[in-house]
Amino acid sequence: MPVTTCVFDAYGTLFDVAAAARVLAEQPGQDELARVWPKLAADWRMKQLQYTWLRAVTGDHTTFWEVTKDGLDWAMEASGLSDPVLRETLLALYWELPAYPEVPRMLASLKAHGMTTAILSNGSPEMLQGAVDFAGVGEWLDAVLSVEDVGIFKPAKVVYDMVGKRFGTSPDQVLFVSSNGWDAAAAAAYGFRTAWVNRAGEPMDRLPARPAHVLDDLTGIPELAGGL
Ligand code: LAC
Repeated sequence: MPVTTCVFDAYGTLFDVAAAARVLAEQPGQDELARVWPKLAADWRMKQLQYTWLRAVTGDHTTFWEVTKDGLDWAMEASGLSDPVLRETLLALYWELPAYPEVPRMLASLKAHGMTTAILSNGSPEMLQGAVDFAGVGEWLDAVLSVEDVGIFKPAKVVYDMVGKRFGTSPDQVLFVSSNGWDAAAAAAYGFRTAWVNRAGEPMDRLPARPAHVLDDLTGIPELAGGL
C-alpha cells in the first residue's frame, strides 16, 4: 500500500539537540563551556538515551524531562562543571532547540502533497509543544505523539503501535523517519517503511532489522514518501 503518513522522531531528527550547549558556548563569558561543549553535548545525549533504555528494561519509567536532567548532571560532572546557573541555562535552552534548516520546507511539502504528518517521540508533551512552538512548525503537523501516553520509552513496540491507533494505518502505510540508528532499526523491525537520517555519517547499527533508506538530511523525505 502507498505511504500516507510520515512520522518523525523529534530530538536529533527535527530538532538539533547539540544546539543548547553549542549556542551557550558561543556567548561571552562562557570560556569554560566553550572548551568542553562538544564532549558535554555528546555525553548529555548519550546518557539521556541510555537512561531511557535502562528505564524501559527495568520498568522504572519517568518523564523524558527527568532523564534529560539526569543526563546533564552526569555530563557536567564528567566535564568538571558544577555551576548551577550553567545547569539551569542549559536546561532552559533545551526547550528552545532550533529545528534543522530544511524542516519547515520539508513538512510544508509533505502537507502540500496530502501526507499526514506527526511526531512520535520520547519527549514529554510539554517539552514537545515547546520545541514545536519555538520552531514554528505546528501548522504542518497533524499530531504530536508522546510516549507518556503509554508510559514506556522507545524502542518498546507499544510506542510504535501509537501510530496505527491514532491514524488507523497499517505499518506499511507509514514512513518513519529518525536520525537515531537504533530507533530506525526498531521501526524497520516493526514493519514501518523507514528512513535513517544519518547526518553524522555513523556506521549502521547492528540490530535485527535495518532501515531501507539512508539520507544525509531531511530534504529528500517528500520525494521518498511520494514514491513509496
Ligand atoms: C525522541 C528521541 C529518541 O525524540 O530523540 O524520541
